[in-house]
Amino acid sequence: MTEHKLLLAPSILSADFTRLGEEIRTVADNGADWIHIDVMDGHFVPNISMGPLIVAACRQVTDLYLDVHLMIDRPERYIEDFAAAGANGITIHVEASPNLHRTLQAIRLLGCQAGAAINPGTPVDALRPVLGLLDTALVMTVNPGYSGQGFLPEMLEKVRLVRSWMAGSGLDVRLQVDGGISTGTLPQALSAGADTFVAATAIFKHPDGAAQGTIQLRDLLKKLGS
Ligand code: DX5
Ligand code: ZN
Repeated sequence: MTEHKLLLAPSILSADFTRLGEEIRTVADNGADWIHIDVMDGHFVPNISMGPLIVAACRQVTDLYLDVHLMIDRPERYIEDFAAAGANGITIHVEASPNLHRTLQAIRLLGCQAGAAINPGTPVDALRPVLGLLDTALVMTVNPGYSGQGFLPEMLEKVRLVRSWMAGSGLDVRLQVDGGISTGTLPQALSAGADTFVAATAIFKHPDGAAQGTIQLRDLLKKLGS
């Protein structure tokens, strides 16, 4: 297994969209590694959020890796649009993709890194058959749809399992957690084996601003990661 750098991926779902460019620059200047973009269709999840237009807008303001998380039914219909908009990575849900294997291959053919995500109610085994096609495995630590929900500690067991599958496998797959990540919960996810951390509320709703939110999580990763 490759030792990965620990990455912080602020989710713009909780950003102030009246000043999205400024918000992205703030997190980029203070230690964000990726920009996480949550795409919701009102079908796969109850909420509706953003589409390729916002990905293209993010691409205009940053060179950071754009990590597009598709919480949409049948994502194969849209991966080309998101790749064209400037996504670096596209993550799809196993529950939403009847042809998961084929769609992951298609994401790579479009020149993007491929990710697969599992909801809290989905057995972790769903990731196993496609591990070899993944750049990122995403274990959801809340039910997708909204930011600001409580971290589900029972998901840590899934993180441990995926990490154990990767040990000695020669696979080079990032292990991402998304949902309820804060200075309180990040250490548990890290010690379970996660290496890539998404956070919306803890960054963009930090009482002292997004710069402080980013710095605090970044510092924590530095402290715990070495
Ligand atoms: C949940 C999204 C998350 C969300 C995280 O549906 O996939 O990326 O923005 O928000 P927090 O960090 O507030 O739980
Ligand atoms: Zn997400």
